[in-house]
Amino acid sequence: MINFKKEIAKAIADVTKLEEDELENYIEIPPNSDLGDYAFPCFKLAKELKKAPPMIANDIKENIKIDESIIDRIDVVGGYLNIFINKEALTKTVLEEIANKKDKYGSSNLGNGKNVVIDYSAPNIAKPFHIGHLRSTVIGGALYKIYNFLGYNSVGINYLGDWGLQFGKVMAGISLWKSEYDFKNDEMGSILKIYIRFNQEEKEKPELTDLAREYFKKLEDGDKETYKLWEHIRKISLENYEKTYKLLNSKFDSYNGEAYYNDKMMPIVDELKEKGLLKESQGAQVVDLEEYNMPPCIIITSAGTTIYATRDLASLKERMNKYNFDKAIYVVGGEQALHFKQVFKVFELMGYGEYAKRCTHVPFGLVVDKNGEKIGSRKGNSVFLEDILNEAIDKVKNIINEKNPELEDKDEVARKVGVGAIIFNDLANSRIKDEIFDWDMLLNFQGETGPYIQYIYVRTKSLLDKAGYTPKIEDVDFSKLTEREAISTLKLIYMFNEVVQNAAEKNEPSILARYLIDLSQSFSSFYNEHKIIVQKKDIQDARLFLTYAVGTVLKTGAELLGMEMPERM
Ligand code: ARG
Repeated sequence: MINFKKEIAKAIADVTKLEEDELENYIEIPPNSDLGDYAFPCFKLAKELKKAPPMIANDIKENIKIDESIIDRIDVVGGYLNIFINKEALTKTVLEEIANKKDKYGSSNLGNGKNVVIDYSAPNIAKPFHIGHLRSTVIGGALYKIYNFLGYNSVGINYLGDWGLQFGKVMAGISLWKSEYDFKNDEMGSILKIYIRFNQEEKEKPELTDLAREYFKKLEDGDKETYKLWEHIRKISLENYEKTYKLLNSKFDSYNGEAYYNDKMMPIVDELKEKGLLKESQGAQVVDLEEYNMPPCIIITSAGTTIYATRDLASLKERMNKYNFDKAIYVVGGEQALHFKQVFKVFELMGYGEYAKRCTHVPFGLVVDKNGEKIGSRKGNSVFLEDILNEAIDKVKNIINEKNPELEDKDEVARKVGVGAIIFNDLANSRIKDEIFDWDMLLNFQGETGPYIQYIYVRTKSLLDKAGYTPKIEDVDFSKLTEREAISTLKLIYMFNEVVQNAAEKNEPSILARYLIDLSQSFSSFYNEHKIIVQKKDIQDARLFLTYAVGTVLKTGAELLGMEMPERM
């Protein structure tokens, strides 16, 4: 594809003798395309060139040599150069690239096969997989696909919370109340109910907590029976999560969680000791981080046990050795910000600064209802992710039965739209904001939602079907797409790779989600203003190819977010 920004920067560099890359960075996209497709603010050069910006602008305009088949015209407005690209060149370069790359359109080899380790989902076994974990699963899943699309090698790690006192609680609960629950038919449900009940009852009966500690101690000491029970609970929990992961299209390359590091922490503790980083504080072994304005990072508690941070250091070191990562990303709620800051700092102090620099905590906000009230498992009114997904699917099924009862593959469509709605709602706004979970909003087919994008995609499909069109780039007359809405749509398609790259740079899938809304709306205004199926074949062919291009990008983009596209709805 023609790189318009590069061409402009090169031409300006020839005139000004300044550095091309720097100039390229200055190029802006004006808020209103009547002002130009690109703008170059000359005041950025005033210091270096020792001239007033309007003079610089005039000079550049007078002397610039730029291919006329690419650039139509340059206007000087104050200190700005407003640049109008040749629309036919835009159309040609975009549509040819689509014809060439198809569903690979927008991908690149930016990452050169380098490893990006993404730690995401990470539910705590034996505790309910609640809606809070949805966010990590969905955001991490999108990043996983986005990095792969950009030529990185994503490594998805589900760092399961599969060790800890919660097992003691569940085991103690089972020993007390097993007969009261239906283990035979619903083992997972029974375990979760017991966990929730245990937490409630232990508030009044502290002896329960002691019992849980006893069980967990037995587990830690390697008691055979207890260990077997732990293995069993872990196994059925995982089987349960798999159902949710399957619905969400989540992929993991490793399920090594906290338990996996149980026998791998001593080397880290020894290394910290050797490097003189450990010191005693109130009976605990800590790394002092006062110099960095952080509380000490506890490595061994006063009870002599290792803790969350110890395990994260062991796993980080293993990830460094095993994957030699270019980036290590932790998609974990904002409340763990300090924990990760401490872990990364300690890792740096251990002498792994190069790798510590490549670590990023990617935090996100809570899930709240439309009144701003937190949705979660606190009050015992747990919301399970699988139930939510199934509810979404059911709701969509009802809508289909009402509006389009004859639709083929109803179940399939309902699944894609229901799950897509949940995924998109999670990714639609910048991740650090609280996610508002409201059924009417997220299922609104006219709103800025997953179903809306799917609906527009299906429109592109049905237009192509109706015309019996098979895309053939040789038949496209690029001069036939001149309408304002067509050009805006083409410009958006042109930007796709940049958008995906930007989403990766900021670890912010919402950038891609917003883009897909923009593209859908832009195409929608195109076909509302202009018929696509028309008398004149050359116009129709050009419009249909654009339709095909929009559908291709919508599908690729939505799949990067983890959604699936229905072909009908
Ligand atoms: N299981 C933890 C939780 O739910 C998240 C683990 C995140 N990953 C990590 N490497 N610490 O709070």
